[in-house]
Amino acid sequence: MSEKILSIENLNIDYQTSSGYFRAVNGVSLQIGQDEVFGIVGESGSGKSTLCNGFLRLLPGNSLVTADHMDFQGQEILKMKEREFRHIRWEQISYIPQSAMNTLNPILTIGQHFYETIEAHEGRKSREELHRRTTEALARVNLQPEIAHRYAHELSGGMKQRVCIAMATLLSPKLIVADEPTSALDVISQKSVLQILSAVRKNLKASMIMIGHDMALQAQISHRMGIMYAGYFVEIGSTEDIFHRPVHPYTQGLIRAIPSIRRRDDISALAACELSEKERLRLRTPRPLREVSAGHFVADYS
Ligand SMILES: Nc1ncnc2c1ncn2[C@@H]1O[C@H](COP(=O)(O)OP(=O)(O)OP(=O)(O)O)[C@@H](O)[C@H]1O
Ligand SMILES: [Mg+2]
Repeated sequence: MSEKILSIENLNIDYQTSSGYFRAVNGVSLQIGQDEVFGIVGESGSGKSTLCNGFLRLLPGNSLVTADHMDFQGQEILKMKEREFRHIRWEQISYIPQSAMNTLNPILTIGQHFYETIEAHEGRKSREELHRRTTEALARVNLQPEIAHRYAHELSGGMKQRVCIAMATLLSPKLIVADEPTSALDVISQKSVLQILSAVRKNLKASMIMIGHDMALQAQISHRMGIMYAGYFVEIGSTEDIFHRPVHPYTQGLIRAIPSIRRRDDISALAACELSEKERLRLRTPRPLREVSAGHFVADYS
């Protein structure tokens, strides 16, 4: 891996619920290289969003985050003051939340979203500069300048998602965290939004963590992938290793399930990973990863 941009060691995240603590992320360690796209795949409830929201400090109050260390660009972010971290979160790490397009404010024009984002981080700017930077950002995601005058409800899902990508890259982040950026879209829009996201990222030379359900779609843009199950990574490796040499039975099940999921056009159905209920239950206990070949890590499953 190239030089690391993000390094997380032994991250645990618990939610306090009425029936006690529930561990949603269990001993996760993760390293992301410069200019690298890391895809996180896993079924619903496996802890993908919790993991990313955890290091981005965006979790609700009933959560408890602990880790041995979390390092972003050589800075320890685990104990950093909130005020300091807030700068890092938007200016250096940008976030495209799950269902991002629904977070657009219905009473603001698209342009106003961009102006507010720029001024919130960089202070007051001239009308011309705001307009120019918004037009440039929209052009990066293949949207015409007049989109700035429209409201969210006037745009299609794919267009709204492109607006969110443009906003997330407005401040030239070093790391983009995209939580299922395409899953609310139809198959055609999914492809084009993914291509645009990928091109914008490349241009910025940013690293990216991309969460998704769809192995095949993820594989198209990820350099490495991590397969999550029950709050831990069962396998991490190059996209090539994960796809062509999967070792863990859960990963193998996900890959076998791809054609049937594609047929049903139901990408949220990855729970259909072909494992027996007994096997799924047994695998819920997290196991440590071991390196089976260079850069290919698999959790013990015996
Ligand atoms: N605020 C919360 N309070 C209690 N439990 C929660 C909370 N948010 C998530 N969980 C639980 O934590 C686990 C992981 O949830 P998370 O949303 O991280 O999964 P995910 O992999 O992102 O799923 P999806 O693919 O559906 O987005 C789930 O069992 C979920 O029910
Ligand atoms: Mg999620």
